[in-house]
Amino acid sequence: MRAAAVACANVALSKYWGKRPGRFNVPAVPSLSVTLDGLSTTTCVAFDETLVADELWFDGVAAADEPTRRASELLDRVRDAASVSARARVDTHNDFPTASGLASSASGFAALALAALTAAGRDASREEVSRVARRSSASAARSVFGGFVELPGGLGPDATDEQADEACVARQVASAAALPLRMLVCVTTEGEKAVGSTSGMRETSERSPYYGAWLDVAPRLHAEMMSALERADLPALGELAERSALAMHASALAAGVAYVSGVTLSLLGAVQALRRGGTGVWATMDAGPHLKAIVDAKDADAVASELGAMPGVLRVIHAKPGPVARVLPFDEAIAVARGGLS
Ligand code: DP6
Repeated sequence: MRAAAVACANVALSKYWGKRPGRFNVPAVPSLSVTLDGLSTTTCVAFDETLVADELWFDGVAAADEPTRRASELLDRVRDAASVSARARVDTHNDFPTASGLASSASGFAALALAALTAAGRDASREEVSRVARRSSASAARSVFGGFVELPGGLGPDATDEQADEACVARQVASAAALPLRMLVCVTTEGEKAVGSTSGMRETSERSPYYGAWLDVAPRLHAEMMSALERADLPALGELAERSALAMHASALAAGVAYVSGVTLSLLGAVQALRRGGTGVWATMDAGPHLKAIVDAKDADAVASELGAMPGVLRVIHAKPGPVARVLPFDEAIAVARGGLS
C-alpha cells in the first residue's frame, strides 16, 4: 500500500488555455509540450488505515489546506478506481523552487497520480495515470510522458462530459531526441504567481473580448506545430510556439489577467533582437513572469549568458527534453522527499 514516483515538469509549446464547459477538467484546445529533464517532483504515497485524513508534506513540512485538499481530491479518484478506503500520507519534494511560479503542479500531480495508483495496487496504464492527473491539472496529463507530448482538446458540444473525458488522453508524439531543443528558463521572481492558471482561464473565458479569437487560432497553431515537429523543423516550431504564447497572453491580458512583468517584456525584446541577428531563439511564457527561451542546443550557452545578464533575471535554468514519469524504490524516494535531498 505504498509507492513512489518521479515526474518532470513540462512547458507547453502550443498552449492549453481555457476549459471545455462541463466536468472533468477537459481543455478547450489541444496542446503540445516538451517534458523537461532536471525539473522533477518525487512523491511517495502510503495508504494507512490508521490515518483519519489525507496528509500532504513538502520536504517534511506539513502543507497548507488548499494543496492538501487538491491532493486529497486526486486520492479520492484513485480510491474509487482501486476500491481502497484508507487515507494516505503523501511526501513530496521538488528539485526546483516550489513557490517560484514554475510548473510544479504539472510534475506534482503526474508524480502523485502514478505513485497513488501504484500504491493502491492498480496496474494502471499510462493513459489512466494521465487521465487521473489531468482531472486535477490538465498540464499534468502531459508530464506523465517524456519527450514531446500532445494533449487533445475537448470534443464538441454534442459529446457528453464522459465522452470528452474518455477521449482526452495525452500521448507522446516524438521522443526527447527528436529535436536538438533546449529550454532556458529565465527566473525573474521567487514569489508565487498572483493569479493561478485555473482562475486566470476562467476570467479570460468570462471577460476577454479575445477569448473567441484564441479558441479559433489555438487549434490551427497546434496543427501547424505538429507538422513542424514531424519534419523536425525547429525554426518553424519555435516561431509557432512564440505565436501561441503571445496569443494566449493577449487574450488573458484583455481580461485584466497580466502574467508578464516589465522584465518579461525586456527579455522578449532581447529574444527577438537575437533572432534578428540570426540566432535561432524563441520565447514562451506561462501563468507567471518567467520567460522560457526555446533555443537550438548549439546556441544554448551563448543565449543563456546573454539573457542571464539582463537586469531582473535571477538565474537561468538549462533544461533539455526529459524522460517519462516512473516508479521509484520507496525507501530511496522517501529519503529524498522527507529530507529535501536530491
Ligand atoms: C499557461 O494545467 O495549471 O501553463 O488544469 O486549471 O490546473 P488547470 O491549469 P494548468 O494550466 C496550464 C496553463 C499553461 C499552459 C500549458 O501548460 O499548456
